[in-house]
Amino acid sequence: MKRIFITGVSSGIGRELAIEYAKQKCIIGISARRHELLKNIAKDCNNLGSKTHVYQLDVQNRKKCEQVIGEFLKVAGGIDCVIANAGIGGDDNLFSGTSKNINNILNTNIKGVTNVIMPFIPIMKSQNYGTLVSVSSVASYMPLPFHGGYASSKIAIRRIFDSWRPSLQKYNLNLVSICPGFIDTPMVKGPARNFPLQKANNAAKKFIHAIENGRSNFVHPKYYYFVIWLFKFTPMWFYNWFINKMFSKPFN
Ligand SMILES: NC(=O)c1ccc[n+]([C@@H]2O[C@H](COP(=O)([O-])OP(=O)(O)OC[C@H]3O[C@@H](n4cnc5c(N)ncnc54)[C@H](OP(=O)(O)O)[C@@H]3O)[C@@H](O)[C@H]2O)c1
Repeated sequence: MKRIFITGVSSGIGRELAIEYAKQKCIIGISARRHELLKNIAKDCNNLGSKTHVYQLDVQNRKKCEQVIGEFLKVAGGIDCVIANAGIGGDDNLFSGTSKNINNILNTNIKGVTNVIMPFIPIMKSQNYGTLVSVSSVASYMPLPFHGGYASSKIAIRRIFDSWRPSLQKYNLNLVSICPGFIDTPMVKGPARNFPLQKANNAAKKFIHAIENGRSNFVHPKYYYFVIWLFKFTPMWFYNWFINKMFSKPFN
């Protein structure tokens, strides 16, 4: 049985990933802060034939991450794949006079990934196999107004993985950065909902396929590859004018 640990499973993409792995009858560690939601999702996963272990976890809490991961490794007897999916959106609260919002985004989306990924590296190194996955975003390629914290957090985790990949390849570890476009989950609010939204369950299936194929950077849906390419050749003044028209006010 494959052993998978996933963060941010109480909702959206994380939930759908857990359900898909449950269909493969994996041993799954599911985590998030909202325990009641996790317990219900664990029931659904177990009904599909998986062995699901529930952990209430705030990914900003490094010590708790290490403790929970230790517990999961004990019951699972090792690890095949860890998916650092937990993340928050939201704007920077640019005119608030405080860095509270933006720092919360940076802490969750960057340290929340390293807190979860790093405890698995020594065990994967000793096993000589394993897959590390982080959920970045198309926003790591293109800035959105008022979302500097979010976009930069997603660049940071993608770049951390790019830096680690050559060092960990010799231990047979795959590092996969998933870069979704807009997926229909509770995270997508305000004008962002005017973009075409992908279904979360379809997206999860694609992500698992990319993970199993060891893709380094996987963008979904595919047309964002073209958008990202186009962005590289777009003059900044034009992009700023265009994106300001679409997102003229802060939104969460
Ligand atoms: N939806 C999109 O369009 C989109 C696009 C690009 C990238 N992404 C990325 O995909 C990932 C999943 O997002 P989603 O769209 O599925 O959003 P979502 O439905 O809001 O789910 C976010 C998950 O992260 C968990 N989470 C948030 N803060 C946490 C914390 N401090 N500790 C532990 N868990 C925490 C939440 O659980 P609790 O609140 O219960 O803790 C929830 O389960 C995120 O990293 C997001 O940035 C999403």
